[in-house]
This record gives sequence, structure tokens and C-alpha cells, in this order.
Amino acid sequence: MSGRGLILGIETSCDETAAAVVERGARTLSSVVASQIKTHARYGGVVPELASREHLRAIVPVVRAALAEAGITLADLDAIAVTAGPGLAGALLVGITYAKALAAALALPLIAVNHLEGHIHAVLLRVIEQNAGPSTPLRFAQDDSHEEKEAALALVVSGGHTHLYLARREKGAWSYRLMGRTVDDAAGEAFDKVAKLLGFGYPGGPWIDSLARYGNPKAVPFALAQIKQKVHLGGKPPRTKAAKTAPIAGLDPRFMFSFSGIKTAVLRYVELHGLRDEARARAARLQSIAARPPQSKEEALALCPQQVLDLVASFQCAVVGDLMKKSFAAAESLGARRILVTGGVAANRELRERFSAEAARRALRVDFPTLAMSTDNAAMIAAAAWGRFLAGEFAADSLSADPSLAL
Ligand code: KG4
Ligand code: ZN
Repeated sequence: MSGRGLILGIETSCDETAAAVVERGARTLSSVVASQIKTHARYGGVVPELASREHLRAIVPVVRAALAEAGITLADLDAIAVTAGPGLAGALLVGITYAKALAAALALPLIAVNHLEGHIHAVLLRVIEQNAGPSTPLRFAQDDSHEEKEAALALVVSGGHTHLYLARREKGAWSYRLMGRTVDDAAGEAFDKVAKLLGFGYPGGPWIDSLARYGNPKAVPFALAQIKQKVHLGGKPPRTKAAKTAPIAGLDPRFMFSFSGIKTAVLRYVELHGLRDEARARAARLQSIAARPPQSKEEALALCPQQVLDLVASFQCAVVGDLMKKSFAAAESLGARRILVTGGVAANRELRERFSAEAARRALRVDFPTLAMSTDNAAMIAAAAWGRFLAGEFAADSLSADPSLAL
């Protein structure tokens, strides 16, 4: 134990094995992410059994690399934090089992973190680091301002989630109230499915992001579902993995999302305009080159007819517009002056530009994580654990994976 407030974060909820060292929830000393994208790309999505196997292979070298990058040893750590859920059961268990063993061997406290809370802290950590600057002494994240209160509307938008929370900090501790969420697919899932059906690689978000800027966003008028009445939501069981992590009844329908319809609309457009064969040919061509987003305008344009670029631009424009409309409506109705946007889809360029412009227009503040910390990482887990560490909220020996852990 160094007493410096060094927390080792471990994250294995989906397809990235990640470890990071964060000092006092306020300074990232290292953040190592081993991505499994290559393993899953050929299946067009994450295969849970393969994910667990890859985590088992990667966890020890990833933790070692995180310690080395931070310039510390195991003996310097003050606590270990691990993602307890939501996520894939087998994948979560690899991180949890490893973290438990390490904590027991080192006689350190173990802190269980909700993955969604982690994503929110990816933004908060960035803001703290930006404010601190390299030469200023550490301004501790949550332990130096017990009088301060703050509230923000948080949109967590990733491959598994599209959730709106009211995040509040009081006396150093954060609490979250669920305000809205998807009733079916997550926004990232829609990006991935649309990219797949257009013959692009996995994950689809970065493909669509890089191609959309060459298309006309007004070419195809997509309309996103507006959930009309509470009665549609009351007691209905969740329909997809994205819908499982939080209760639905009692939420305001204005802040609910639905992305399965637009995916079907894209499919219909593709079939109606005979783009199927073209997409198949592109998929075959992409398999022969590395599964990566096009690197240049020329490469992107060579891969796609204009009609596909227009379709991609229209899809992205509609999804981002829907995320914006509901997030700003929720912020306004809750009186929140600040919006945090986080999760893999928060890496999207159009999303960042439009949220920033709209926030400026309304004189609100909007914050995003760094691009690297938009997607899954462990620094966000270690940062989220800091408040619990100070409060002495440690995990019981019985800690296990909770695939649908709610925040
Ligand atoms: O947060 P994340 O790494 O994992 C989950 O917790 O789900 O998010 C991954 C998701 C994928 O669906 C991926 O397609 C999407 O984030 N994504 C993007 C972009 N980068 C990643 N979606 C849109 N634009 C991007 N630039
Ligand atoms: Zn995530």
C-alpha cells in the first residue's frame, strides 16, 4: 500500500480486456486495453464463449502492462476495482475471479463497479484531468469538496446500452436516477447491425462514422419511434439484451428510445433499391483486406456507391438527431445545466459536433470522454471506485457476476 490512493481497475464485461491504474480517482497513470475485435470480427458480433477464452489469455499480461506503464508494483496499490456487471456472465467472471484472488493475496479491499457508472466516470475523469493540467497539484476528484453539489444529465450510449440518468453528487458521493432507456436495441447495436447488412466490418460504428460525411444526410427521410404512452411500457418484459439492465415501468415515455425500427427500415431500403448484391460483394472484398475503417476519402469512395453513402449518412443523422432530441428534452425538464455523453457511440464525430452546437445554442455545458475512453476501458472503473474507496464500501467475498446489474 502506498497511501497515494492508487486503484487498479479491471474491466472484462464484453470484448475488451482492460486494466488501468488511477490515482485518487483523478489522474490516469496507465490504461491498457487488449481488444478482441479480430477474434469476433469474422462472426459479425461478439461470441460470448470466445470472449471468456480471450479474457483468460489476456488478463495477466494486461494487468502487468498496466502496472509497468504506471511505474508501480503490486505492493504500491491501495485497492482493486472490478466491473461486476452488466455484461456477459462468463466474461465478467474472468475479471471478478482474478480481482478477488489478487485482492485476497495482497490483503487489499475489493470494490465492485457498475459498468455504466464507469462510463459516466470516463467523462468526469477527463474533466478533472483537463482542469488539473500537468503542472498543477492534484485536485482530488471527490474528497475535497464536500459542500459542492452538482447534477448532470448523463447519456450512456454504447453497443449494449442507451440509458439516460440524472447523475448527482452530494457530499462527495455520486448517485444516479434512471430517466429513460431503449425499449429494444441499443444505439450502438443499430450501428453494428446496419453496418453488417451493408457489408462492412465489426464493429460497425466506426465504419458508419467515417463514411457518413461523404453522403447526403437528407437523402433518406428516416423517422425514429416516439414512444407515446406509458401503457406500452408498463410491466412489459425486456425484449433484447440492451433492454434488460433497468426497469422500464414508471419512466417518462418522452425519454425512451427504440432503434429496432430504423434497422428494419434500412433493410427495406436496401432490398427495395437492389443494394443487396452490392453489399455482399463489398463484404467479400472487405474480408480480403484488414477489417478496419477506410483510411482516406478515396478508399471510402472506392468502396461505396453514392446511394450507400447517402443511406449511411441519413441513418447516422436520424440516430444522432433522436439521441439529441431526447437528451436535451430530459435535461430541460430536469433543470440540468450540464450533459455528459459517454459510451462507444460517444466517439461518433457527428454526435459530438451536433451535441456541442446544440448545447452552445441553449447555453448548456456538454462533456465527452477522450476518444480512447469512449469505448470500454478500465481507467473509468478505477475512477468510479474512488468514492466507494473513501466511503469504505467494499465488495463482499461472495461477489459474483451480475449480467443485468442495474444502475
Ligand atoms: O462502450 P463500448 O466499447 O462497449 C459497450 O459497452 O457496448 O461500445 C461499443 C459500441 C459498438 O456498438 C460500436 O459500433 C460503437 O460503440 N461505436 C461507434 C463509434 N465507435 C464505436 N458508434 C458510432 N460511431 C463511432 N465512431
Ligand atoms: Zn461499455
